[in-house]
Amino acid sequence: MTRKLSLLNFYKKHKHFRELKELLPHVFEGDLLDIQKLKEFVGDSNFIDQLNYELSWFDKKQALEASQKDCEAELKFVEDKSILPNQSDNLFIEGDNLDALKLLRKNYQEKIKFIYVDPPYNTGKNFAYSDNFHLASDDYLEYLNYSSIGRVNQFKQHRIKSGEIHTQWLNMIFPRLILCKDLLTADGVVLISINELEKANLQLICNEVYGEENFVGCFVWENRSITNDSLHLFSSVHEYILIYARNKSKVVCKGEEKDFSNYSNPDDDANGNWIPDNPTAASGNKKSRFPIINPFTNEKYLPPNGRYWAFSESRVEEWTKSGKLVFPKEKGKRFILKKYKSELKSERKPISSIISDIPGMKGTKELKVLYPEGIPFKHPKPTDLLIKLFDQFTGNEDIVLDIFAGSASTAHAIFKMNKASSSNRSFICVQNNEELSVKSTAYQLGYSSISDIAIDRIKRAGKQKSGNNCGVNYFKIESLK
Ligand SMILES: C[S@@+](CC[C@H](N)C(=O)[O-])C[C@H]1O[C@@H](n2cnc3c(N)ncnc32)[C@H](O)[C@@H]1O
Repeated sequence: MTRKLSLLNFYKKHKHFRELKELLPHVFEGDLLDIQKLKEFVGDSNFIDQLNYELSWFDKKQALEASQKDCEAELKFVEDKSILPNQSDNLFIEGDNLDALKLLRKNYQEKIKFIYVDPPYNTGKNFAYSDNFHLASDDYLEYLNYSSIGRVNQFKQHRIKSGEIHTQWLNMIFPRLILCKDLLTADGVVLISINELEKANLQLICNEVYGEENFVGCFVWENRSITNDSLHLFSSVHEYILIYARNKSKVVCKGEEKDFSNYSNPDDDANGNWIPDNPTAASGNKKSRFPIINPFTNEKYLPPNGRYWAFSESRVEEWTKSGKLVFPKEKGKRFILKKYKSELKSERKPISSIISDIPGMKGTKELKVLYPEGIPFKHPKPTDLLIKLFDQFTGNEDIVLDIFAGSASTAHAIFKMNKASSSNRSFICVQNNEELSVKSTAYQLGYSSISDIAIDRIKRAGKQKSGNNCGVNYFKIESLK
């Protein structure tokens, strides 16, 4: 509103601005100067353009400033909501994550290995939490200081429509992503769950905050199965998990175990298990099309047309002696080149970007076990999914921060991991004190806020797992004003 008034006052008072409109009415949209049209009129090269490539939206500057403003709040320890506080490094913070991220800088700057971000996806619906960041058309036009969009061209109308949908969500997520970066260790990563609605915007602002060179990859999580009654015969069955690093060159991703079931040692080779390797390659030069002679039968082998031996001629004698190259004693059979398991550079392979073995329903099923009386939170992330992610990027002593904790699936996953592998990972979960609607199932089950649900799950899951570090220190963010 302040912005709107100042623009109007500016227009009314500013003689030159009015003169410009009289002189060049075609570069104006109503009372507003259209910079793009002005640029086209005077020519791009006569313009100093400081921005070259970015996603922009109304209020982006304020969103940036929100990350820079001091936090006028403090963390207050709440003993009676904590669980085994003396035996645990885990933290639960009740309050807005914007404040929490600022407050955590004091003790956790560059200390967090993994930040999980599972924000509201901006579906325009309401779950236990609000997921509607859309602005009403009139409010948005007022925001932009437009009287109406009647005279605006079609492209601009599309932009205005998109602005209504995305502006508030971007204002919410942008400062938080900026603040996350300060908390990451040099080899730390931030993983962000999202679906189609904000994926494109999210990736662009993450490129801006973390640098495109620090984009590690994007998991496609197949979380649903196809529904048969889709009106448009198109069924979206996946969501995304974007991975950004503070510094990609330092990130270690554990990868997946290779399958060695086809390795064996039928000839008792002293070098251990092996499989037959392809001795030819698609590329090479004249020198790699030499004849190989079978020492038993004198048969001459050449690579097939268009292919080359995958090794140099000098290797043939050495490998024949060592038994890596095995020749048949009868004519008409091919030789074997052995690939030993012991020769492999790594016993692991890169992790696939597609996760298809963990259905989303698994998260709900887990809650049904913890809450036989009825589940207080819909669509929690399955702990198996989180464990898979934490396992890839964290070590035994690392800290995982979840800034949109919801039902505290992260805490549950860390308990499970610590118990299963005797590790000592710890978590920090942040959840605002969003109140539940009195009509909601959770409210009827006796919870008044989502943070109530989260701490109760931590209590139940901790009891169930009783491994290392199964408690939590509860903090509440309190305003200093
Ligand atoms: C998508 S849900 C997370 C679900 C969670 N991963 C789980 O498995 O239960 C997003 C959560 O973030 C919370 N939230 C939204 N805005 C927040 C904010 N500014 N600070 C802290 N929590 C917030 C919502 O109340 C909601 O519980």
